[in-house]
This record gives sequence, structure tokens and C-alpha cells, in this order.
Amino acid sequence: MTASTTAPTPPGTLDAIHHLRIVDDRLATSGQPGEAQLAAIAQAGYEVVINLALHDDPRYSLPDEAASVAALGLRYVHIPVQFKAPTREDLLRFCDEMDAHIGRKTWVHCAANWRVTAFLGLYRVLRQGWPRDEAFALMHTVWQPDATWRHFIDDQLMADYYARRAAYYERVYHQPERQADLRVMEAGLWQPFEGRRVLEVACGTGWWTPHGAARARRWLATDLNPETMAVARSKPLPACVAFRRADAYTLAELGDERFDAAFAGCWWSHVPLQRLAGWLDTLHARLEPGAQVVMLDNSFVQTSSTPISRTDAQGNSYQQRVLDDGSTHEVLKNFPTLDTARAVLGPRAQHLQWTDHTHYWVLSYRLT
Ligand SMILES: C[S@@+](CC[C@H](N)C(=O)[O-])C[C@H]1O[C@@H](n2cnc3c(N)ncnc32)[C@H](O)[C@@H]1O
Repeated sequence: MTASTTAPTPPGTLDAIHHLRIVDDRLATSGQPGEAQLAAIAQAGYEVVINLALHDDPRYSLPDEAASVAALGLRYVHIPVQFKAPTREDLLRFCDEMDAHIGRKTWVHCAANWRVTAFLGLYRVLRQGWPRDEAFALMHTVWQPDATWRHFIDDQLMADYYARRAAYYERVYHQPERQADLRVMEAGLWQPFEGRRVLEVACGTGWWTPHGAARARRWLATDLNPETMAVARSKPLPACVAFRRADAYTLAELGDERFDAAFAGCWWSHVPLQRLAGWLDTLHARLEPGAQVVMLDNSFVQTSSTPISRTDAQGNSYQQRVLDDGSTHEVLKNFPTLDTARAVLGPRAQHLQWTDHTHYWVLSYRLT
């Protein structure tokens, strides 16, 4: 019998670093390097280390990575990303740091190169205009994201689409064939909210906000994107209107504030079918018993709507949308019916009303 000739890789070499992926001659990604491996990174000529993992996870954190990297003469950037709850702020900071260090040899790591490859994929779509499949090819060589990360990636891409479109989003409200519906819907929107404290989800550029808020007591308009809210803030609005950046799926930014009404315009259609019940639970948890809820959204009209490009295994439909900068975005857009709304809402929605206009539908109910 002969002994194996394969010697283990010494810990101070780059090859031994967990889930290493050398991307090109100025970018490498990996899981957590050890102290000897940081020295090897410095020796290989890297100038910047960006760490997306935590500093205090006993499973992998080094005693003082900032000091170790500084002692090697490299610049160290730490963006702690909670694996179970990545945020848009984390992502945007990562994108800024990547942009700031373009041209410098950069090593990006986390614990297992999972956070990093997902963020790098998003960076490449958001900041470098890569097609989605190409941008995430590296990630798929390292891991297949779980539900938290699949949702995070989808949400960031959708938010990015609306951020880019913010300046001219309202063109959609100037289409001649929609004007009659719009006037009717706008005129009646104040009624259900009179005297109430209203949470508006995904307010966008605030097309509906002045109409709904006209006689409300308080109206908190929220959206994930500062870009869309900047357009909304620039409009003349009733004094009761305030704005807050908030993710519709968590509403975590709202502290413990509760409301006695809620409104969402053209948002339901963007919620994947498999997340609809969870999103409604999150929204309803913010509302008091008896709260008034109104949602409105697009109906599919063959002569006016963007065609459906595909339908996925869960039954979600998608559209290919082209922005003024020429970029193409696949956007999830569902077209629910009264029956599907009733099925997902169940008995918690009382006095349920569904109104079909030509281009829009309006759903209203009282929460039990
Ligand atoms: C179709 S627009 C609707 C805007 C407005 N309510 C209307 O009816 O004109 C969708 C909005 O959802 C926002 N958005 C995307 N993802 C979000 C999220 N996770 N949480 C909150 N808002 C989000 C976008 O920024 C965009 O303003």
C-alpha cells in the first residue's frame, strides 16, 4: 500500500481559504480567512479587505480583525450583515465601498462567501448593469440562497427598478385611456380614511397620497426608496402627511406605532403569491381591530398593459419592462381577482368590497 501523495494545503496559503473564488486580477471573494491567510492576502498584493461577516461570532470571528488587517498595512472595511436579516442599507454601503475602491486590489469576505457572492451579484446588477443571470453565476458556484436571501435579492432588484424610474414614474398616470378611472378613484379616496390614522405602504411618488389623506387625522406614507419619496415630498400635501422609509415586508422601521387604517396603491400586484399571506399578517399586526383597509391596483387590459412574459411554478406572472436608460427589468406583476383576495384574506376581512374599474380594481375591508 502506498501513502497518499496529496499534502494538505498549508494554512498560510490563499488556496486554503474557505470557499475561495478569485474573480479577476483585482477582486477575490472568500469565507473567513485566518490570521496566516490574511498575511498571505497582503503578500499577494491586495490593498483592501472588506468584511461582511460579524466581529463577534464565536464560530469564525478573529480576535481583532481590524487590528490584524491594519497591522499588515491594508485598508479594512467592516459592514456587518446579519445573515438572517440583510438590509438595503448594508447593500448600498457595500456598493459605495466597492465603487470607492475600483482599481485597488480588493479582497471581500464573510464567513462562507455566501453574503459576499449575493451582495456582489446585486452590486453588478445595480451599479454595473450586468444581466441578472450573469451577475449571480458566481454565487451559484458557492451556494443556492435560502428563502431569506432569495426574497432579499428579488426585493433589491425591484426596489432598484423603481428607484431608477422615480423621476418619470407618473407618466403611467397620464395615459389617456386611464383618465376616467383615475378621476373616479381619486375623488372617493378620502372617504374611508376620514379622521383616521393611516399607514400607506409603498407610497412611491405619492400619486394617491393627497387624495387619500385629504381628511385623515394622520397619514404616514412609507416606501423602501428615498428616490420615489423625494418626488412625493415635493408635492403640496395635507398637513397630516408624514414620510418614513420602511420595508413593506417587515415594517420594522415603524417602531411600535399602530394605525386604524391602511392604504396600498399598486403594491399588492408586486407581492409574490407565496408571500401574500405573510405580508398581510405583517400589515394587519400594525392595525387596530376595526381598522379600515383599502388597496387598489391595475387590472390587466390587453390593449394597455405590458404583456405577461412568463408565469412561474407558483403562478406569479412577470413582465419585461424597459426603462428610459435602455435597461430591461423583469418585474413580478400579478393580477388578482375578488376570489383570490377573499381566499387569502379569509374571515379577518369584514365588509369586503371589490370594485372593478376598466384599468384598476379597488378592494376595501374592515379588519376584525
Ligand atoms: C408600483 S409602485 C407604487 C407606487 C404608488 N403607491 C402608486 O400607486 O403609484 C411600487 C412602489 O413600491 C416600492 N417598493 C418596492 N419594494 C418595496 C418594499 N420592499 N417595501 C416598500 N416599498 C417598496 C417602490 O419603491 C415603488 O415606489
